[in-house]
Amino acid sequence: MKTLLTHSPEEAAAFLRRGEVVAFPTETVYGLGADAFDEEAVRTIFAAKGRPADNPLIVHLADLGRLARVAARVPPAARLLIDAFFPGPLTVILPRRADVPALVSGGLPTVGVRMPRHPVAQAFLAACGVPVAAPSANRSGRPSPTTWEAVRADLEGRIPCILVGERTEAGLESTVVDCTGETPVVLRAGVVTLEALRAVHPATRLAEPAAEALARSPGARYRHYAPRARVRLIDAPGEAEPGPDAAYIGLAPPPAPEAFGLVRVCASVEDYAHALFDFFRRCDAAGLRTIHCERVPPAGLGLALMDRLRRAAQG
Ligand code: TXA
Ligand code: MG
Repeated sequence: MKTLLTHSPEEAAAFLRRGEVVAFPTETVYGLGADAFDEEAVRTIFAAKGRPADNPLIVHLADLGRLARVAARVPPAARLLIDAFFPGPLTVILPRRADVPALVSGGLPTVGVRMPRHPVAQAFLAACGVPVAAPSANRSGRPSPTTWEAVRADLEGRIPCILVGERTEAGLESTVVDCTGETPVVLRAGVVTLEALRAVHPATRLAEPAAEALARSPGARYRHYAPRARVRLIDAPGEAEPGPDAAYIGLAPPPAPEAFGLVRVCASVEDYAHALFDFFRRCDAAGLRTIHCERVPPAGLGLALMDRLRRAAQG
């Protein structure tokens, strides 16, 4: 299959309306979208990514008017968070309407909903005219794509169209919050911080222990975000072992930067989050074997960054 690159949201949406899958940019990472109500098209997403069928997809909306097409109801906690954070990098888990294909939700009675604020994503979703089911546009298990080149590296020949945009702004995925109960529960840390959620709904908590996150969010079960190189977490840059096939990423500079194959010193936790997945991919492209990653305090965006680092290190 030939993979068309386009800058036109309308041209990309035409593929989706014909029942095909399309990669598109958002403010977090690139997504791989299909009409959420077209079960065959949704099946194609799983095939193109090599994704396990029990890992649910997020449904993306152009505007809140379409929320009632996918959610059976919107509990008060969800309403609060939606009012505060939509459009933006937040996914809320809501009771699923029975006519949303079960495959979208990996068989769960719920549905994840998100309304991106990225202008190209908004133009694309509006042109689609339907709710769009979309996971991150990477091969399953690989780092999420933050550039269209990363999408092409993983999915060229497997999907008909990539809507080309800029490198994504955040570099990490949306925060996934279960809003089906009275208390919002964070299933996946992401760009909207726990502190920001609590400022709106103080009772918001993290899914704990790990077993709860697993039971509620099947995605947490799978290996994720991993480069081919070994990822090693370190507390201080001095712990990184230099070498031509080693890389370093962190906030503080390593003692001998020139002794590493690749080095990225980040200006802030935000910059680190923005750079991480692309850095992983550059390390793989350069054939490096070990990536030393400096830990950050698990506060603010650091919570999501540490989650991704830990999972990559488990690989
Ligand atoms: O930023 C993002 O969220 C990106 C962009 C494209 O929107 N999407 C993304 O999708 O990261 P994906 O499929 O790679 O991750 C979705 C996560 C998974 O961990 C999945 O298990 C969880 O959300 N999820 C989706 N629907 C769910 C549901 N109904 N119940 C529990 N967890 C759900
Ligand atoms: Mg993903």
